[in-house]
Amino acid sequence: MSVYLDYNATTPVDAEVQETICSAIKNVWGNPSSSYDLGKKAKNIVENAREKVAKMVGSLPSEILFTSGGTESNNMVISTAIQYYHTKVQNVTNGLKEEKPHIITSNIEHDSVKLPLEKLSDEGKADVTFVPVSKITGAVEIDDIINSIRPNTCLITLMLANNETGVIQPVSSLRSKLKSIKDNKFQRGHSLNSILLHTDAAQAIGKIEVDVEDLDVDYLTVVGHKFYGPRIGALYFKNGAPLFPIFYGGGQERNYRPGTENTCMIAGLGKAAELVSSNLKEYNKHMTAMNHHLKMCLETTFPEHCVFHIKDNSNKLPNTVSVALDYEKVSGAALLSEAKQICASTGAACHSGGKPSSILISSGISCELASKTLRLSVGRETTEKEIETAVAYLDTAVKSFVIK
Ligand SMILES: Cc1ncc(COP(=O)(O)O)c(C=O)c1O
Repeated sequence: MSVYLDYNATTPVDAEVQETICSAIKNVWGNPSSSYDLGKKAKNIVENAREKVAKMVGSLPSEILFTSGGTESNNMVISTAIQYYHTKVQNVTNGLKEEKPHIITSNIEHDSVKLPLEKLSDEGKADVTFVPVSKITGAVEIDDIINSIRPNTCLITLMLANNETGVIQPVSSLRSKLKSIKDNKFQRGHSLNSILLHTDAAQAIGKIEVDVEDLDVDYLTVVGHKFYGPRIGALYFKNGAPLFPIFYGGGQERNYRPGTENTCMIAGLGKAAELVSSNLKEYNKHMTAMNHHLKMCLETTFPEHCVFHIKDNSNKLPNTVSVALDYEKVSGAALLSEAKQICASTGAACHSGGKPSSILISSGISCELASKTLRLSVGRETTEKEIETAVAYLDTAVKSFVIK
């Protein structure tokens, strides 16, 4: 029996979501821009899904834009911030015109934030500060972000929860901290109010409460395949926040994201969002219990060899265990290739290379322990039996390398 413990990489599509998608494929295949009934039906499906996604994150439907996924949403926010900065500084009669836009982020972001920012920096189009997270808590310190602000800062982008460690970042304190500081750094015309705030909530949605009012951000990234939905995404953009398209075309999505809508997948995303809105407490409770069971089984099976990274559970996702099995010369990758029945990873799914994860190293884990680390993430249907089976597979794998 194989055991899937990689729900941070992706989730299966929920049965009700599958039904919604299949029914839309069969029955609502019209073009949402067409004026006859079949088109109107498709348009309704899109708007209905928008309402459901909005409800899930506590926004207005008009503040939700459908995208192809998290990568697109994140890139769109970054390119918007750059363009917005240039339109704003054109009207400022001071030295800012000569300055590049400046963006602040953390050093543990997903590649869909990190790489576009590195590219902008390499090309000389933006200054970027990658604020290091604490090597003890795995979270960024708000004061380190605030101290990085410059007169030309146009965007702070901070993920809500990390995909490898599960550590929740202090996004909800950003706005209030910004409001509480004096604006004297910004005498040259740019104001703290014009710093845009973005959070990538890919890993948090469906696991913990995510509400845009509480977070008080301008943008929030939604990724369907992390909460049992299809592989599309959405972007929340606060009413009044600037948004510039990446693509140009047929005017769909109010010209922000043209291209004929992926109606059936959008319907599925709406259903997945509805399930989260109705059942989040239950999902959270189940994941917390399974996580606890997993840690207990690991501790009992590998006493003195089991190193859990980042001990503060209160500030972590309820489903993620980042753990090193500390046996001499046994890497996490080697363990997983031996224990083939376990579907898990040593880091983010997009990093299957041999190097230890830079996110773990940045979070204070030694290179040696990082190379022995497994990222185990449970889901809505994970059972105690599955966990016990997976740990038994790991035990067999460990024994094949060392005599305990
Ligand atoms: C934190 C985070 N952001 C963004 C993404 C990218 O989302 P997508 O795969 O939909 O482009 C992922 C996916 O792994 C993620 O974990």
